[in-house]
Amino acid sequence: MSKIIECKNLDYSYHNGKIKTPVLKSLNLEVHQTESLAIVGQSGCGKSTLLNLLGGMAQPSAGKVVINGSDLSQLNEEEITLLRAQHLGFVYQFHHLLKDFSALDNVAMPLLIRGDDTQTAFKKSSKLLADIGLQDRLNHRPSELSGGQRQRVAIARALINNPSVLLADEPTGNLDAKSAKEVFGLMMELNQQQKSALILVTHDMDIAQKMDRFLTLENGTLNL
Ligand SMILES: Nc1ncnc2c1ncn2[C@@H]1O[C@H](COP(=O)(O)OP(=O)(O)O)[C@@H](O)[C@H]1O
Ligand SMILES: [Mg+2]
Repeated sequence: MSKIIECKNLDYSYHNGKIKTPVLKSLNLEVHQTESLAIVGQSGCGKSTLLNLLGGMAQPSAGKVVINGSDLSQLNEEEITLLRAQHLGFVYQFHHLLKDFSALDNVAMPLLIRGDDTQTAFKKSSKLLADIGLQDRLNHRPSELSGGQRQRVAIARALINNPSVLLADEPTGNLDAKSAKEVFGLMMELNQQQKSALILVTHDMDIAQKMDRFLTLENGTLNL
């Protein structure tokens, strides 16, 4: 199986004025194309920082991140944006949907931005929303949806252009137990259907144990 993500000897520190906060140290990771991986670890250990590095939103202090064979440090900002659009989907703890747009518009947005034909984009988006049980909520705005429904829309938006990897940062952290279970089930199902990789940060060990693998982030590194 080939690798979709690779991290080699990653170091990362935040710098605020003279204050340096080391977070990641000599971190190594390999994720295969269709693998589901959970990353667990105490609050503040660097999980979100790691996902930011994987998504090219921050640059490592040392070491490298390779996505689908491309070393991010060798790419300019435009190339990283393109690679992100082609290969990565993101889901966060809070949905980050556009509040003035309907569920359908939100899901179709990545397709419209990349220049897909409008009618095809809306057709594909309504189908995905129907597949995840939201056929009666296409024209609802985020404020008119429940927390679980919003996260389902956010997942549909992240997956609409078939990314190679879905990066999810505590996507169920803000939901009640029942919605969390549904949202997690949906993510696993879509991930398997699309044959993409899933990297999920979670506090929930029940969820972590349902994935192919889970790793603990501790003292700046992943314990394999
Ligand atoms: N912008 C920042 N400047 C300085 N330190 C930060 C900044 N963002 C996060 N940190 C510190 O980095 C550590 C890791 O943060 P984070 O990756 O958000 O942890 P997690 O997602 O595991 O809870 C924390 O100890 C946090 O205090
Ligand atoms: Mg975090």
